[in-house]
Amino acid sequence: MKSCGLRCLFILLSFPFLLQANLSPDYYSKTCPEFDQTLVQIVTEKQIAAPTTAAGTLRLFFHDCMVDGCDASILVASTPRKTSERDADINRSLPGDAFDLITRIKTAVELKCPNVVSCSDILVGATRSLVSMVGGPKINVKFGRKDSLVSDMNRVERKLARPNMTMDHIISIFESSDLTVQEMVALVGAHTIGFSHCKEFASRIFDGENQSGSPEGMNPKYAAELRKLCANYTKDEEMSAFNDVFTPGKFDNMYYRNLKHGYGLLASDHAIAFDNRTRSLVDLYAANETAFFDAFAKAMVKVSEQKVKTEKHGEVRRRCDQYNDYKG
Ligand code: HEM
Repeated sequence: MKSCGLRCLFILLSFPFLLQANLSPDYYSKTCPEFDQTLVQIVTEKQIAAPTTAAGTLRLFFHDCMVDGCDASILVASTPRKTSERDADINRSLPGDAFDLITRIKTAVELKCPNVVSCSDILVGATRSLVSMVGGPKINVKFGRKDSLVSDMNRVERKLARPNMTMDHIISIFESSDLTVQEMVALVGAHTIGFSHCKEFASRIFDGENQSGSPEGMNPKYAAELRKLCANYTKDEEMSAFNDVFTPGKFDNMYYRNLKHGYGLLASDHAIAFDNRTRSLVDLYAANETAFFDAFAKAMVKVSEQKVKTEKHGEVRRRCDQYNDYKG
């Protein structure tokens, strides 16, 4: 500060996101001591009742945090005047169970300590708990985020990758969020759980000359099974396949091992196993689960702490789907 004086102070004040938020692992220890226990209890009940919750919530977390930081902007419901992030095309497939989980936790926490715990912290905490509950690493996240005052569908699309983008494009999207190629490869390991709708990979298995054969690099038997599974996908839009065909509900390094043997589901999954910039990382994580878990945990913490909203530029929403000044 000393070397650039008032000019730097002005720049810092003009860009609120540059100001460091006061995040801490025990942010709520005095103001809401029951927060963590309540969250873990509800997450556990929900995951037992609906085992797809872990994957859905992890994706919800990622889609929230990539667009202007983890600020629960994805939870805001659209109004007749404004279409919010959750109704952007890429977010329409986010599962109801993940939204329901956050609502349940928020309701329980509000009863114990009203107006204290932000929806963004609840989403981050729930994701952390679910990842380790399904076998993944313990992730030491911090709390103290505020919820956004904005949620705009137009801010979403260029921040999130699509399976059929080139690797250059995908890397540039992650880099625009200050995430390296290494962090990208570790984060995409999230595809070790959950599923994808057939439309997301249909062009790989049905289009062009490969119709009766197998898409480039895909295991032929796997391709044939996917074609059977997705035969009616245009009529039944819910048809889906597991992202990790061998251990779909377990957070492990099987995703990377699959990629090397032609069991990558999305075109982007397959591409990272063969691109010169990413191949060696896929090899590393396929061979060494601890290296994957370490890298995933670090990258997830980084994503969770980017562009955090501070006191003045956010609020603790009373309802996660509405700003506090919502007038209906
Ligand atoms: C190259 C980057 C990525 C692309 C192109 C991509 C694309 C997709 C697509 C198309 C789906 C299927 C959605 C559906 O059909 O409902 C999906 C699912 C999923 N994605 Fe990604 N994704 C990427 C990175 C990530 C990252 C970094 C994470 C988390 C850290 C993540 C977490 C998930 C999870 C957990 C699912 C399963 C969701 C469920 O079962 O409900 N993805 N992804």
